[in-house]
Amino acid sequence: MEILVYPDARTASASAAGRMADVVRQKPCAVLGLATGSTPLTLYHHLVAMHRTGGLDFSGVTTFNLDEYVGLAPEHPASYRYFMEENLFSLVNIDRSRTHIPRGDCPGDGVPAACEAYEREIREAGGIDIQLLGIGGDGHIGFNEPSSSLASRTRIKTLTEHTRQANARFFSSMDEVPRHVVTMGIGTILEAREILLLAFGEGKADAVARMVEGPVTANVPASILQMHPVVKVVIDEAAASKLERLAYYKAVHQHKPVWQRWDIPPMGS
Ligand code: F6R
Repeated sequence: MEILVYPDARTASASAAGRMADVVRQKPCAVLGLATGSTPLTLYHHLVAMHRTGGLDFSGVTTFNLDEYVGLAPEHPASYRYFMEENLFSLVNIDRSRTHIPRGDCPGDGVPAACEAYEREIREAGGIDIQLLGIGGDGHIGFNEPSSSLASRTRIKTLTEHTRQANARFFSSMDEVPRHVVTMGIGTILEAREILLLAFGEGKADAVARMVEGPVTANVPASILQMHPVVKVVIDEAAASKLERLAYYKAVHQHKPVWQRWDIPPMGS
């Protein structure tokens, strides 16, 4: 894992957005795995700004989002389709037919087939080039809650009360927060060629430390990222505050040869 610690969420998000933009520039038909929630918001603002002022072109890009609430129609303001429309899709030149979000609104017995179709669509698109992730305070990635199979595929999951409460801010009452979601599985996420995990604030510090330095366990689903060959963990000082080997991670970054550093634009670009 490459651990990159920035003074604040703003500079961390700018750097992560730069990495995603590089992927799109190098491969105009890139397949991006996207996340929702508070964490990637500033990154999306940067991508939009790069599109508007730097001509970053999304016309050939395909996207797959991690998850969606079961029972919410795409027009529901708390649905993840709505979130993506508001924060990215409507603000760049992406072709909507290439944007994919798990179906949360199909009738109960239609969910497994929709999940299989989602997996198939990812495969048919050639797999995910770069997957953006946030992390839950309990160590979840996507909505793979603690105890999720580390080999899981896209499927329906039940949210923990911890996650329902964390996400209650997007709903008008706790009763409205769905109990079920459709999420890419951990096995699905691990097949992405590169993973960019963002975490900001003290509330994520425990989960980050357990993900990076704890044992690999289904109890902390993000810990499985230790087994992925290309993971960039982009965090602020607060989220890094419980890492035992923080000084080492900083030294690794500081002394990395410039040609290996993706957070510094290459000369002449
Ligand atoms: C969202 C997702 C979740 C969030 C996580 C953190 O698509 O898959 O894993 O990344 O719950 O949420 P925030 O960023 O709101 O703290």
